Amino acid sequence: MGEVIKLNPTNGLVGTVNIPGDKSISHRSVMLAGLADTPVKVTNFLHAADCWSTIDCMRAMGVSVEQDESGGLTITGRGFYGLSEPYDVLNAGNSGTTIRLLTGLLGAQSFFSVMTGDASLRKRPMARVITPLAKMGLNILGREQSRYAPLAITPAKQVTGIEYAMPVASAQVKSAILLAALYANSPTIITEPMPSRDHTERMFETFGIPVTRTGNAITLEPVQELTAPELINVPGDISSAAFWLVAASIIPNSQLTLVNVGINPTRTGILDVLKQMGADITITNERWSGREPVADIIVRSAQLKGVTIEAEIIPRLIDEIPVLAVAALFAEGQTVVQGAEELRVKETDRLKAVTLELGKMGAEITETPDGLVIEGPQKLSFAVCYSHDDHRMAMALAVAGVASQGVEIGEPDCVKISYPDFFAVLTGLRRD
Ligand code: S3P
Repeated sequence: MGEVIKLNPTNGLVGTVNIPGDKSISHRSVMLAGLADTPVKVTNFLHAADCWSTIDCMRAMGVSVEQDESGGLTITGRGFYGLSEPYDVLNAGNSGTTIRLLTGLLGAQSFFSVMTGDASLRKRPMARVITPLAKMGLNILGREQSRYAPLAITPAKQVTGIEYAMPVASAQVKSAILLAALYANSPTIITEPMPSRDHTERMFETFGIPVTRTGNAITLEPVQELTAPELINVPGDISSAAFWLVAASIIPNSQLTLVNVGINPTRTGILDVLKQMGADITITNERWSGREPVADIIVRSAQLKGVTIEAEIIPRLIDEIPVLAVAALFAEGQTVVQGAEELRVKETDRLKAVTLELGKMGAEITETPDGLVIEGPQKLSFAVCYSHDDHRMAMALAVAGVASQGVEIGEPDCVKISYPDFFAVLTGLRRD
């Protein structure tokens, strides 16, 4: 792809897109299958850099991961107590999910491990997982008073269940605690301020681990073993579909059919907001992929209008704000994003990056401490922009560019983190 990519405007996007596998579910499939005694086949796994970071870490602990010609994986785990001490530092690359979830899992093992990541990941907060895990008896140390990776993890004397009220709604923090809680000597109860994605809970159930949810409280009893399914078919990632949902909405003469999109209600904030904005979205062929609901989605161009996106819905569309900012620039009226301060600690500070980079295209966006204010519609012009090495920034800028006067994006290769074929798919959908 090279150091920059130049995208021209398009007259419309038409066609069918098979949405690549869900990143969150792909990570969890390898971690849980790695703890099982019997092989698990995983289909529609997301072959992207973040999920491969998880595979590499699990392999380093003795888990076998084999890939067939069609991209299917066969994961042969080591049993619930069978992971082995890694010989070297585990590298989570750019992946917050890998480092945070594995911190919970590793802290409950009877061996020493060290985990690190790339320059972006080493700046992301780790105290949010270390604090509750320490309460459970886990021994985890990190750089700068245990605020950042690299992390050094030594065996716990005992893993104790906790009652913990999470200060931020984070599926990564919740999942790290749940993974450690599997090994505890007493039950764990976690309360979330708002429901975050529940893929871990659903996948636990797929592996025979009962999890109960009452309101915002999740209770987990420790287990001794897992009962693995023979097959996990990963639904398509709605966070990847989001770029097509917005692109087809704002580019006139567009119609896209998005096939196999995960519509887990903890992830569908983007659909609710776009519909509220006046998007023409039809959900068809609803079905189940294991315990995860999926559907096909048809989206056609529509004149959008501005909306207020409040704190309550943010966890259900946390990764979609950059592309929703693009939608807001094409919508009539004001769009306000509130309670989204978590975006400041993603792969980059996404509130700042959105304001700066779309600003280069002429967009006037007001950045607030916890969100954005955007008056639409606005005219964008061609600009040379930078991805900040953040996959979702690169794709949001691409949507903005093809919907207006074109764009040049520096460091576009970062799309490999979650959607390696993104630019190729885009080329295939163009009407021009
Ligand atoms: C993820 C949870 C979210 C999300 C990230 C993936 C997960 O992060 O932004 O892309 O797989 O659990 P937080 O839970 O930290 O908000």
